[in-house]
Amino acid sequence: MKFDISKFIKPWAMEIEPYIPGKTMKGYIKLASNENNYGPSQRVIEALQKGIEEVNIYPYRDEELRGKVADYCKVDRENVILGNGSDELMDLIFKIFKGPILGVNPSFSGYKIFTLALGEKYLEINLKEDFGFPLDEFIEKSKEANILILCSPNNPTGGVISEEDIKAVLDQGKITVVDEAYYEFYGKSFVPLISEYPNLIVLRTFAKAFALAGLRIGYAISNSGIINALYKVKPPFNVNSLALVSAIAALDSKDYMKTTVERIKIDREILFRELSKKFKAFRSEANFILMDVSPIKATEFFENLLKKGIIVRAFGKFSGFIGEYVRISVGTSEENRKLIEALEDI
Ligand SMILES: Cc1ncc(COP(=O)(O)O)c(C=O)c1O
Repeated sequence: MKFDISKFIKPWAMEIEPYIPGKTMKGYIKLASNENNYGPSQRVIEALQKGIEEVNIYPYRDEELRGKVADYCKVDRENVILGNGSDELMDLIFKIFKGPILGVNPSFSGYKIFTLALGEKYLEINLKEDFGFPLDEFIEKSKEANILILCSPNNPTGGVISEEDIKAVLDQGKITVVDEAYYEFYGKSFVPLISEYPNLIVLRTFAKAFALAGLRIGYAISNSGIINALYKVKPPFNVNSLALVSAIAALDSKDYMKTTVERIKIDREILFRELSKKFKAFRSEANFILMDVSPIKATEFFENLLKKGIIVRAFGKFSGFIGEYVRISVGTSEENRKLIEALEDI
């Protein structure tokens, strides 16, 4: 049978370039997806083992976790919604609120994918040449959008947005999403602004500092009006029971996470100094460092490290920017040492 998929597919979906995840290969050091390579706490491992006994029943501990997340973020439970990764919450936000959606370039590629999948328009303005936040241009462009999405610390640049700039953006009165996936590595949050700004949604995840990327769990913090709206489009049982018990255990053993984060922050500075000796590295408040490796091509740099058993993320060119970009996650101290050694003859 001859079958032409293009007759059936929604026309706007044709434009989507699917998300390309960081490579994972057994036995290799993976520094490509900004995971926490120390892994989760022992308490999480034990909770997972115990959680297996209940996989025959639907997840039921979401309210308990909402309460723990609320305590962690110093908000009320009604200010919290859980998602199957913070990815899912982006999707829900773009589903319930009208577009267009405005973001910056370069930033997390998921924003554009989720927007286009819903047939909405994605607008974008470039960061400044040094990857700083271009407040005036962003505010000007925000007049054409209904949802504004920003990331601080920003993936892949590692830069942050000041509170003054965020307030100026919030003052435009649009739905404003601030993705704080890397909050724990930075330490400053815009969550306290939710009481002042009813249009603010902060996204967080358990995938990075808490080392639960494989379980897919994130959350959004906002005023109860927005949270209730998001509940209208939330699939039932969107977060699985093993993710719930793990996140509960992770919040019950926060000190472990904090210890690994402190180590990663110290190593980030060591790595920054080492990388800066050879390449143009950008200061980062997250658990990764962006570098311009030109005149070497990003793909060549990637292949060279791959031969030495290390996987990094090669972006190549960012549209509108000069350079060949590679992002390297900060691994364990041992992995970082191996990386520095491997870079010696590159
Ligand atoms: C800025 C940013 N937001 C969200 C995500 C996805 O988070 P999650 O795993 O919770 O869906 C990532 C993953 O790399 C990210 O970098």
